[in-house]
This record gives sequence, structure tokens and C-alpha cells, in this order.
Amino acid sequence: MTATSTQPKHEVRDLSLAPLGKQRIEWAGREMPVLRQIRDRFAQEKPFAGIRLVACCHVTTETAHLAIALQAGGADAVLIASNPLSTQDDVAACLVADYGIPVYAMKGEDAETYTRHVQIALDHKPNIIIDDGSDVVATLIQERQHQIADIIGTTEETTTGIVRLRAMFKDGVLTFPAMNVNDADTKHFFDNRYGTGQSTLDGIIRATNVLLAGKTIVVAGYGWCGKGVALRARGLGANVIVTEIDPTKAIEAVMDGFRVMPMDEAAPHGDLFVTVTGNKHVIRSEHFDLMKDGAMVCNSGHFDIEIDLKSLGAKATEVKDVRPFTQQYLLVNGKSIIVLGEGRLVNLAAAEGHPSAVMDMSFANQAMACEYLVKNKGKLEPGLHSIPVEVDKEIARLKLQAMGIMIDSLTAEQTEYINSWTSGT
Ligand code: ADE
Repeated sequence: MTATSTQPKHEVRDLSLAPLGKQRIEWAGREMPVLRQIRDRFAQEKPFAGIRLVACCHVTTETAHLAIALQAGGADAVLIASNPLSTQDDVAACLVADYGIPVYAMKGEDAETYTRHVQIALDHKPNIIIDDGSDVVATLIQERQHQIADIIGTTEETTTGIVRLRAMFKDGVLTFPAMNVNDADTKHFFDNRYGTGQSTLDGIIRATNVLLAGKTIVVAGYGWCGKGVALRARGLGANVIVTEIDPTKAIEAVMDGFRVMPMDEAAPHGDLFVTVTGNKHVIRSEHFDLMKDGAMVCNSGHFDIEIDLKSLGAKATEVKDVRPFTQQYLLVNGKSIIVLGEGRLVNLAAAEGHPSAVMDMSFANQAMACEYLVKNKGKLEPGLHSIPVEVDKEIARLKLQAMGIMIDSLTAEQTEYINSWTSGT
């Protein structure tokens, strides 16, 4: 926990894990060619010279590559965890020991430690904040108004954080620019859909080792993340039921071939429930009463509020750890309910989060968004800003190139046609 002369200040679980972290970070790098190119350019151009930066992210092998790219660009960066259960302790150790990056993150840290780390990050007096869920920005606004003058801008990784930033803007408290990384096409089409899809099923399988073929899986929420989870669950042979509150998304789910019904109708059918709505108490007391004995519940939305675990706890006579990240609640009605990952992001608690190949594009957006903020310092209005289309397309182009896939380009005739309105029927 204390710094030696060569190591920065930090709070990580165990520095002796650094060699394992290094090996795993290198492995992830094989699938992150776009971020690697950006890092190499940053190393030449040093866009972040003199910039203090705080990144509040899931501390994973992929985040390590983002932090290393920002450091290569000259940033004076501090990294903290965006979730108490998502930190990979070996990665945190390696970033401190081998890269000299101050990291404050430990898997399983309690709420007090988590909020203390947010304060330590703000003590760094950041000019740029990379946030995932908006906890650092919310704390800055609520508790450190005097530091807002230092802020060039923030970037936000996830849907939940974007929803919070919109609410801040509506309340007139978001007084600096915020780059909406989540809504870039090269982010949410891939990370939210294929990343959450694969990593959620990965977390469920690692936690339980149950066969999913033939099981009934209830997916709550049919946004990009829900679409990915439903798609991959079906791919593994599960019968998938979707619950929604948005009529358009519900039609989409129906036309994608899923059964759609309210949660109280789905509750008695599900063997496994996955929440991905971003909202509170999507599975609550009345639903637990209807569930089968041994039903499993988990969450892949950003915060641990989607499953009302307090109400489940109130019905329980005993809570037992039955496997890592797997707890059995024995209920007064004689049934049991299994909770995975304490209702926190199951893909990061019980597995390793999204695979590197999608985080490559997400973090390319993060890196380019930070550069955009610095290049446009003082010129951007307060509030949310989209990632410029040309940046989004460049990331797609680089990814495709790295995948060795060529595509067509418009002929001169097609370009002329697409830009004119005069020729019709
Ligand atoms: N969010 C989801 N998966 C992630 C990962 N592998 N790294 C960082 N943030 C993530």
C-alpha cells in the first residue's frame, strides 16, 4: 500500500501479482490493434503533455492498454475502479509495478473504500475525467465545485453514465463538455451487444457451470446489451423470454423471435434471470415469490440496483456461499434462489468482462475522445457531445483493416447519385 521510490502511490491487493498481470495484459494486446496504433501515434505526438487525467474504469487487461496509451501520450494519469467487484488484481499490480501508474483498486473493496478512491482520484485535480457510470463526475459536481475550473471535459463509457449526465445537464449542473463514448457506433453496436452478450454468458457459466441448453432464460431489457444477451443465450440452446417497458423494443424482441411478457408472467417460467435494464428493482419481492425452487438471478446492468436483494434477504432464513460469486438464499417458503455476483455486473464479477476485440474499439473511442477534448479546449459548449462521425468511421476503418477485411467504395457515379435529389422514378 505504500510507495517505494520507483513505484507511485497506490492501493492494490498484492504487488507480487504483477508478472501474471503483465502476461495477461500482453495477451489482451493481441486483440487490440486499433488502440495500439493510437498509442504509437500518441507516443510521437504527446497530445496529453501537462494534462492530469483520472480514469474510473473496470480495471481489466483492456483498461490497462487504455491507461498505457494515455501515459504514452504524456498524460499524468491515475486509475481507480468503477465497480467494487470488477478489478483484476494482477492487472492493478502490473500497472503500478511495471508502468508506474498510480492505481487505487482492489477486487472486493467495500463501499467506503470505493468512495475513498473516488476522493483520491479527485485529489489528483484532473483536467480530464474518463468515467464509467459517472461516479467521479457526480462527486465532482456535488462535492468539489471549486475544481470545475480545472476541467477540460469528461468522457463517459456507459449507457447508465450517459443517462446520469443528461439528468445533470437538465438540472443545469453539467457545466463542462462531456464526450458521449457510449453512443458511438463503434462502441455500442459491438461492446454493448457482442461484448455484454458473450461476457454475461461467460460469467454465468464460470460462476455456475450449468448447462444452458434447454433452460428458460428471462432477459429483462432489450437495449443493445439485452439484445446481445438474448442472442447468445439462444445460441447456446436456451429458450429465451424478454421483458421490456418500451413498446418499440418489445416489438423488436418479438420479431427477433423471442417470447415477450411482463416479469410477473415470466417469473414462474425462468430457470435463470438476467437484468440489463439500467433501472431499479426490475426483479423484486413479488417476483421472487413466483419463482421456481433453485431459480438463478443475475445482473449485467451497470449498478447493483436491478435485483431487489434487500427484499430477497428479508425472505431468507439463511444465505450460503455455494461457489465463488454464487450464493444460495434459503427462503421461508421452503424454496431457494441463487444469486450470482452479488447482483453486480456478473460479466466482470465472475468473468473478465468484454473480450479485448470489442474493448479495442470502445477504448479507441475513449482515447480519441480525450484527444478531441484537449484539441478543442475552451471551444466546446457544456453538455453532451457525440464522438465526431469521422472519428467513429476511422476507428471502424482501422478495425476492419486489422481484421484483414476489404470493402467496396463508392464509384464516382454512385457518389453523384447519392448526393443528388433530381433523379427519381
Ligand atoms: N466493461 C465491460 N468489459 C470491460 C473490460 N473488459 N474492460 C473494461 N471495461 C469493461
